[in-house]
Amino acid sequence: MASVEVSTSRPYHIVIFGASGFTGQFVVEEVARTTAEGPKGNLTWAVAGRSRQKLEKVLDQAAAALGKPELRSSVDIIVADVGEPDSLATMCRQAVIVLNCVGPYRFYGEPVVKACVENGAHCIDISGEPQFLESMQLNYDSQAADKGVYIIGACGFDSIPADMGVIYTRDQFRGTLTAVESFLTASSGPEGGCIHDGTWQSAIYGFSDSGKLRSLRRKFNHKPLPVVGSRIKRRSALFFSNEIEQYSVPFMGADPSVVKRTQRFLVQEHQDTPVQYGAYAGVGGIGNIVKMMFAGLMFWFLVKFSFGQNLLIKYPEFFSFGFFSKAGPTRKQMEGSSFQFAFYGEGYTEGHDPSEGKPNCKIRTLVQGPEAGYVATPIAMVQAALTVLNEPSALPKNGGVYPPGAVFARTSLIDRLNKHGIQFSVI
Ligand SMILES: NC(=O)c1ccc[n+]([C@@H]2O[C@H](COP(=O)([O-])OP(=O)(O)OC[C@H]3O[C@@H](n4cnc5c(N)ncnc54)[C@H](OP(=O)(O)O)[C@@H]3O)[C@@H](O)[C@H]2O)c1
Repeated sequence: MASVEVSTSRPYHIVIFGASGFTGQFVVEEVARTTAEGPKGNLTWAVAGRSRQKLEKVLDQAAAALGKPELRSSVDIIVADVGEPDSLATMCRQAVIVLNCVGPYRFYGEPVVKACVENGAHCIDISGEPQFLESMQLNYDSQAADKGVYIIGACGFDSIPADMGVIYTRDQFRGTLTAVESFLTASSGPEGGCIHDGTWQSAIYGFSDSGKLRSLRRKFNHKPLPVVGSRIKRRSALFFSNEIEQYSVPFMGADPSVVKRTQRFLVQEHQDTPVQYGAYAGVGGIGNIVKMMFAGLMFWFLVKFSFGQNLLIKYPEFFSFGFFSKAGPTRKQMEGSSFQFAFYGEGYTEGHDPSEGKPNCKIRTLVQGPEAGYVATPIAMVQAALTVLNEPSALPKNGGVYPPGAVFARTSLIDRLNKHGIQFSVI
């Protein structure tokens, strides 16, 4: 699976930038694990970041975790800093694909996209920040197209399961799928679980700046996507979901924005029927709702002011009831954690006109996998990269700035994910 057919004159198929970060270290392990699946020496890769010392430590840790002492001497290190454009250019010129793990992306992401576009490297990131993702599309799409470069954002847990899940549901439906709702649930083992502070910071800055996202969207001048079939159900801010038998809330992450961009691309490029999408997350019982409302109110209040943002950033455990932490989850906690996306789709069987009457057919699919942030995310990111390397003719014919579903709709990414622990199935 890791064998790479592309021939390239560049030294590395993959460069992991931000390899010393909490997520980056697990991306390094996933690349090392995946490389071992293919013919030896076929996939070439390096780690990159601003501190050689930290990168050496990451390679030592990966070597110990995977029982591969040769990693330390066989993987090259590139020193590059977001604040030093020349170092980014040098890094990008050596890579076919840069896996960018340096976030929050709103602060650090653009120079990397720019360097990739200017120096002809594809770029895959794991941003869950709609403002960054959409502004890259606005500002770099045509330059990336001119260069034949693919800039693919949101290739982690945000938002590959949701975006590819909608595509999978559509492809499994016999007829015209017109609407899908997804319900996310996550579970942890006896050791509990949490999310690293890096994602908490991305969320704080994203919410504090949400007004800018609205004005950014106006610049695209998009017409609303046409609604085919019955309009999707409107849910309230908190409701009991009979689908997953627990209280649920609208999902606040990047998934709705990413899925919408993909649907728009599929309508424009392939004249596909647009699928309406609603994303929800299960919150459990009354006890969790009380905690969530308390934490949510504090968050909404504090995030508006810079002193409040500083407080939130300083004390993630306190303000999130332990959901986010500076240390991140332990390996034991990750082993016990998992996620599940349940997709409920509806549409019209063949021969039934979606413009007349209610949907006459339903479908239920699942996307499930291991711990979301640091196990599933590296798997999704690395499989996305291998798909770009191995299946160029299945990608959109022009380069550009894309959400994952737009790039991977016609590739074997879902099969690859199935083989690596992120499972797509029809119920
Ligand atoms: N999509 C998903 O589901 C998902 C999952 C996990 C994470 N994420 C996102 O991934 C991002 C990283 O999260 P994390 O928890 O791994 O954060 P982190 O531990 O703080 O890692 C940040 C990385 O960025 C590097 N960095 C910071 N400033 C830099 C600069 N000027 N030049 C070069 N490198 C620089 C850091 O290098 P040093 O080590 O030298 O400080 C570190 O490697 C966040 O945006 C997070 O939201 C997304």
